[in-house]
Amino acid sequence: MNEVIGAHHEFHDDEFVVGWADRFVPTPERLELFNIILSELKSHIPPNGCVIELGVGPGYLADHLLSVLPKIQYYGVDSSRPMLDTARQRLKPHLARVAYVQADLIKDNWWTGIPAPVNAIVSTWTLHDLGSQENVEVVYTCCAQVLQGGGVLLNGDFIKPDKAIYEYEPGRFEIARHIEMLHRVGFKNATCLVLLEEEIESPTAGQNYACFKGVA
Ligand SMILES: C[S@@+](CC[C@H](N)C(=O)[O-])C[C@H]1O[C@@H](n2cnc3c(N)ncnc32)[C@H](O)[C@@H]1O
Repeated sequence: MNEVIGAHHEFHDDEFVVGWADRFVPTPERLELFNIILSELKSHIPPNGCVIELGVGPGYLADHLLSVLPKIQYYGVDSSRPMLDTARQRLKPHLARVAYVQADLIKDNWWTGIPAPVNAIVSTWTLHDLGSQENVEVVYTCCAQVLQGGGVLLNGDFIKPDKAIYEYEPGRFEIARHIEMLHRVGFKNATCLVLLEEEIESPTAGQNYACFKGVA
């Protein structure tokens, strides 16, 4: 049982990024996650609201949201130039409503160029890549400060299941710890909306992800 559930990434390598985007075309389960985020945005933000995505990657979630919410203004943050290039290609039909920020979520002030008010911050499959619970807390803290009062954070990310029989990489941790953390940094009504692809016995790095919600 020495296996650690996690993934090795080279998000700054062009070839790796093309391969990653091809491998992770959204599955029905991931579309379920996207639709949960969509439905929360519909009920929490104004039609022309401002949405930031942390770790926009190849732009799959962004495309999904921008296609259904025709007036939102979108900011895609990512540290990887090849990922941002891939997102730019995918999101061409939404050109006028998307801006890109190349920044590291831990080392840079990723929010500085984004005008207030920010109504929502969304993210999928990203914060676990920050490598530790401490780094996730740093980002949750920034989100609580960047969002306007009543704004919503929706983070769909990999977790460590409560009944885990393997070790998980440090950025993947229990649902209850995410909720505690969200409360600690000032979010109200922090909750877990869903747990998807739960697998205890033989998990892959692409299973066991949950969607967390906090209201600023
Ligand atoms: C596993 S991919 C997920 C991409 C996309 N959110 C999705 O669900 O398809 C993680 C993304 O987070 C970005 N990322 C990882 N660490 C980051 C950091 N420290 N700062 C900003 N972006 C980061 C990567 O470049 C990559 O685009």
